[in-house]
Amino acid sequence: TKLDMDLTAIEKGGYDHFMLKEIFEQPRTIYDCLRGRLDVENGKITMSGIQQYAEQIVNAGRIIIIACGTSWHAGLVAEYVIEELCRIPVEVEYASEFRYRNPIINKGDVIIAISQSGETADTLVAIEKAKEQGAIILGIVNAVGSSIARLSHAGAYTHSGPEIGVASTKAFTGQLAVLNMVALLLAAHKGTIDRDRYLLLCKELTAIPEKAEAILKLDAEIKAIAEKYKDASNALFLGRGYNFPVALEGALKLKEISYIHAEGYPAAEMKHGPIALVDDQLPVVFVATKDSYHEKVVSNIQEIKARKGKVIAIITEGDTVIPGLADDVIVLPAADEIVAPMLSVIPLQLLSYHVGVAKGYDVDKPRNLAKSVTVE
Ligand code: G6P
Repeated sequence: TKLDMDLTAIEKGGYDHFMLKEIFEQPRTIYDCLRGRLDVENGKITMSGIQQYAEQIVNAGRIIIIACGTSWHAGLVAEYVIEELCRIPVEVEYASEFRYRNPIINKGDVIIAISQSGETADTLVAIEKAKEQGAIILGIVNAVGSSIARLSHAGAYTHSGPEIGVASTKAFTGQLAVLNMVALLLAAHKGTIDRDRYLLLCKELTAIPEKAEAILKLDAEIKAIAEKYKDASNALFLGRGYNFPVALEGALKLKEISYIHAEGYPAAEMKHGPIALVDDQLPVVFVATKDSYHEKVVSNIQEIKARKGKVIAIITEGDTVIPGLADDVIVLPAADEIVAPMLSVIPLQLLSYHVGVAKGYDVDKPRNLAKSVTVE
C-alpha cells in the first residue's frame, strides 16, 4: 500500500536503500560502540562482561572464534589482532564446520562467537555444544537479547542498531571496534603491550568515526569506478595481513550484491592459482593501505600489471608509488594497521553497492540470500 511505501521511505532516511543508509551510518555506529567503553584521556577500557573473565581468557591455552559469513571475516581480523597484541593463539572456525567435526574442546577453553543477528543456527549450536563441554562462551552480538547473547556467559554488544540490508556492513565495523577493544583490554591485563602503544591504539580507535566520515565523502568517486567495472564477469580481491580478511569481505560483498563472481585471496597466495585468471579484462582490487606489508603488496601489484590486469587500489594518503601503478586509486586517511580494516572495508562496501545498483539489482534483498540463516 501507499502507506507501507511511505513508511519504508521514512525508514530509509532519504537514502535509496537500507544498505547505503547503513554504510553511511558507520561513523555514528562505530562511535556508539566505543562510547562509554573507551576512555582515551585516562587510557581505560571498560567492558564489564569481558573484564569479568579477563583472567581466565589470558590464561587460556587458546581462543577459538566461531562465526559465519561476514562475522567470520571479523573473526579473522581479530585473530591477527589478538595474536599480535595479546600473544594468545587464536583459531577461527566456520561454525558449520566446527559443530560437525567433533572438535577438541577442553574445560576452560575460551570461545568467542561473533554474530550480527545472534540467531544463526550453526553458530548457536556450535556454542551450545562447546558450552556443554565446559568452554567459556563470549558473545559479540548486535541483536540485543538474541539467542546467542543469552547463551553466552558474557560478551559485548556492538550497538550498531538494526541492520536491514541483507549484506552486512555496519555490523562488521561494529564487530571490529568491539574486538579491537577486547584485544587491547586483554593485552593490558596480560602485560603484553607497552603503555605507549596501548595509548596510541586507544587514540587511533577514537579517530575512526571521523576518518570513516572522510571516506564516505569519496562516494561519488567510488561510484564512477563501480560504473567502469560493472560489466566484469570476475573480480579478484587481494590483501595481506590485517587487510587479507578485508579482501575476503570485499569479494563477499561483490558476490552478494552484484552476482559477479569474486574471489578474495591473500595477495602472495595468488601466485598459487588465481594469477592464471589475470588478463586485460580482470579487475583486481588491492587493499593496499600503508602498513608493515606495504612493500610486498606493491610487488604483488606489479605482478598483476605485468599481466595486464586492471588494478583498483585502496591506498593511504601520501602513497606516491601505487598511484603510478594502479588504474584507479581510492585514497584513505592514514591509520594504524591494527584499526585500518574498519576503514579499508568502507570503500569496498560502497563499490559493491554501486555495482549492484548500476546492474539494476535489489541490493537490499539479493536473490537466494537471507538476513539471518536460522536453518542449518
Ligand atoms: C547471512 C547474512 C550475512 C551474515 C551471515 C552471518 O549469511 O546474509 O550478512 O554475515 O548470515 O550472520 P550473523 O547474524 O551470525 O552475523
